[in-house]
Amino acid sequence: MKALVAYFSAEAGTTRKIAEELADAVASDLYEIKPEVPYSEADLKWPNPMARCNREKFGKKEVPVQGRVPDWENYSTVYLGFPIWYYGVPNVVETFCKGYDWSGKKIYVFVTSGGSGIGKTAQKLEPFVKGGTIEDARRVTGVEELIGWK
Ligand SMILES: Cc1cc2nc3c(=O)[nH]c(=O)nc-3n(C[C@H](O)[C@H](O)[C@H](O)COP(=O)(O)O)c2cc1C
Repeated sequence: MKALVAYFSAEAGTTRKIAEELADAVASDLYEIKPEVPYSEADLKWPNPMARCNREKFGKKEVPVQGRVPDWENYSTVYLGFPIWYYGVPNVVETFCKGYDWSGKKIYVFVTSGGSGIGKTAQKLEPFVKGGTIEDARRVTGVEELIGWK
């Protein structure tokens, strides 16, 4: 059985960099979670109440994803990375998670943020990864904080 690093990264590639380094460190496959419609810079300007990110969040909008992970059933461990949005999980990551059967999978969550801690992110994610086990969830600033997860 194999491991997969699946990540979403939108603003500055902060989560992407860590995801790529983690995939190298644990010799896993790498998959980028992408919204069907990519985010522009303006879409992410959360101080603007009309920005797409706010409309999605406060309108509780489903954000469709592009594509699917090939051979999902071959992975026993999934490292799931994303930026903290609004103290929690970006809608597009929820959509991604809902699209798969997590039964029997071990899940390691890593998040980046502007300063917020991991908080209740793991509990917020749980309903979307039914059947899987969240083994750990950490807010990180670099891949070295994930060493030992192997
Ligand atoms: C819509 C939106 C909401 C955010 N909400 C939070 C938040 O609640 N707390 C926080 O510390 N940072 C927040 N951030 C900042 C991101 O978590 C942070 O910049 C992250 O490292 C970006 O990762 P990326 O470059 O991989 O997208 C938010 C950013 C965006 C665009």
